[in-house]
Amino acid sequence: VASTLATIIERDRAEQEKKDLQLQLAHAEKLAALGRFTANIAHEIRNPLTSVGGFARRLDKVMPEDTKEKEYTKIIIAEVSRLEKILNNILSFSKEAPPNYTKNNIADVIERMLVIHADLLKEKSIDVQKNIANIPKFSFDKDLLIEALDNILLNAVDSMTEGGTLTVITEKEEKQEGARVSVKVKDTGAGISQDQLEMIFEPFYTTKVAEGTGLGLSITRKIMESMDGTVDIESEVGKGSTITLSLPFNGGQKQG
Ligand SMILES: Nc1ncnc2c1ncn2[C@@H]1O[C@H](COP(=O)(O)OP(=O)(O)O)[C@@H](O)[C@H]1O
Ligand SMILES: [Mg+2]
Repeated sequence: VASTLATIIERDRAEQEKKDLQLQLAHAEKLAALGRFTANIAHEIRNPLTSVGGFARRLDKVMPEDTKEKEYTKIIIAEVSRLEKILNNILSFSKEAPPNYTKNNIADVIERMLVIHADLLKEKSIDVQKNIANIPKFSFDKDLLIEALDNILLNAVDSMTEGGTLTVITEKEEKQEGARVSVKVKDTGAGISQDQLEMIFEPFYTTKVAEGTGLGLSITRKIMESMDGTVDIESEVGKGSTITLSLPFNGGQKQG
């Protein structure tokens, strides 16, 4: 009797696992279809938006200084560029191109990112500390990593509304599965609660009222996974968060 019971339980479990798998597949297919649909719409919106931005910039050139009209034109330009950013985010979220591997120095990538955002960091009273290891060049998609790091850095900036310290640490570690390179981005911002931690990688999840798209972290995870990398988050509410991006040091070889 016991063995029949065990067989039945086992069969039920197998059935359940099959059902779960089917559900997961249906969910993945739905997400993929949604991704394609969204990408099409984003493409359609981008062209007219580019014209609006272009003409607004032409108006801006001839509009006399210190007039209401000049101010309105500036607002149109700023809002168009905000929309363009959102569209680019959506497009890279739905893009499925494989990484373009080249040998790069990761310290250069980080330096460039910090230079690009230097004004913003200063304006928000954020000090930057660096602990950058001397890591030989290795294969990764530079543009993809910049995009991922950008998302992480901008989130860190957003979390430090009263200023703070941004610490960037790179390391190369020998692990059982092979050498890995990690970039840690540490902030002294608001932190993330346990409940939120479960949500933040969901596309469109955001706690930012006006300017969040909720796509940054899901894009970042997708980018890192496309290079066999990972994203890890440690956080303490009121103290800050540490986001760790990790890449295989010997990855990307197979693609040449
Ligand atoms: N460094 C951080 N500190 C605090 N909260 C964070 C941090 N990074 C991400 N989050 C939380 O995760 C949410 C999702 O982030 P993201 O996917 O980049 O979308 P967005 O930045 O547009 O809100 C944010 O709205 C925020 O609540
Ligand atoms: Mg973000």
